Amino acid sequence: MDLKNKHLVLGLTGGIACYKAAELCRLLVKQGATVQVVMTAAAERFITPVTMQALSGRTVYSSQWDAREPNNMPHINLGREADAIVIAPCSADFMARLVQGQSDELLSLMCLARPIERVPLLLAPAMNREMWAHPATQRNMAQLQRDGTTILGVGSGEQACGETGDGRMLEPAELVHDLIAFFQPKLLAGQHVLVTAGPTYEAIDPVRGITNRSSGKMGFAVARAAQEAGAQVTLVAGPVALPTPRGVTRIDVRSARQMFDATLAQATQATIFIATAAVADWRPVAEAEHKIKKDGSGAAPQLAFTENPDILATVAQSPRARSGELLCVGFAAESQDLLAHAQAKLERKGVPLIVGNIGPAAFGQDDNALLLVSADGARELPRASKLELARALVQTCAQMLRRPS
Ligand code: CTP
Repeated sequence: MDLKNKHLVLGLTGGIACYKAAELCRLLVKQGATVQVVMTAAAERFITPVTMQALSGRTVYSSQWDAREPNNMPHINLGREADAIVIAPCSADFMARLVQGQSDELLSLMCLARPIERVPLLLAPAMNREMWAHPATQRNMAQLQRDGTTILGVGSGEQACGETGDGRMLEPAELVHDLIAFFQPKLLAGQHVLVTAGPTYEAIDPVRGITNRSSGKMGFAVARAAQEAGAQVTLVAGPVALPTPRGVTRIDVRSARQMFDATLAQATQATIFIATAAVADWRPVAEAEHKIKKDGSGAAPQLAFTENPDILATVAQSPRARSGELLCVGFAAESQDLLAHAQAKLERKGVPLIVGNIGPAAFGQDDNALLLVSADGARELPRASKLELARALVQTCAQMLRRPS
């Protein structure tokens, strides 16, 4: 329910992507928003107000002469109530009309009449690729951004007209994500956050290996929360099947040594490093070239192990981390004595913050409970979704940046 207590005006303009607006409306309501739909006459050619009324639970407005409003001013009342106006789909024509301040029908009139400082306007353009690439549309988009409008971007791929390229409306789930992110405070604007996530896989032979039960969910939630907070985010992920959070750059790795190399290369740019990965502590000394076969004697193969490099400790020792240019945060997955182990790790890894959690209660779950341990003491974050906890961690990092120890 990330949009709880948010009231949105969802504006529809003419375009085949109107069929996606039905799903968008449903998802917004599911996230706790109240949605007031406003449609242009062209939008009503593509989808009926009946559908949008049923999904939003509110009658749809489409005329500036709608007499249901006691003062007969829906263009004033509807905009004033909203936390944001979202136009999805937004046609090329509607963008052009917004640029010019045209206002001869309800939706454009309401956009013009909205209090600019208080009611943000977000557009999800949808059009043929040639229309999108046309200098007129690109010029209009630049002007709209200068006027304080947020353009949510477009998708790429097959279009209803049969052509392939940029200009499709973003998928409803992507738009909902972007809207949720829009409302998050931009605590990490200008920061570059580097996150490691998931398990690593240490090969024994071409078909077998050693790994662990980390699902990567906490690290992916941290990456998402940092992106929502306005940071540029790079996620170095071990082998997990999770979708990449929107707007996050992902580097897939398999072994601890690959994660080490990728992370150290990225750490030169980062301002915050959050090590959530459950890195395998040991790897087989050598990976067998071919599958190890049973030899019929009943004897198990003898595997020798060697220790993997410690990614967090290495980054924490780098000159940028030591000078305070790079804030390093470690995780501790324990099965008991969380506080004592986390405090010991704080010292051993040389980092200002360790985030403790009970591994068996966290791995694979959608929620977790955390213990933030620093030199100042320990603070509990009670059980909540991993995304909520990640947002709280982002807040803590932002505070630590403002008040370096
Ligand atoms: N970590 C790392 N590289 C490693 C091992 C751990 O970057 N080779 C990071 C983890 O991502 C985590 C923190 O170090 O942020 C703590 O990892 P953990 O495995 O819990 O600690 P260990 O140092 O392995 O200590 P122990 O095995 O005693 O629990």
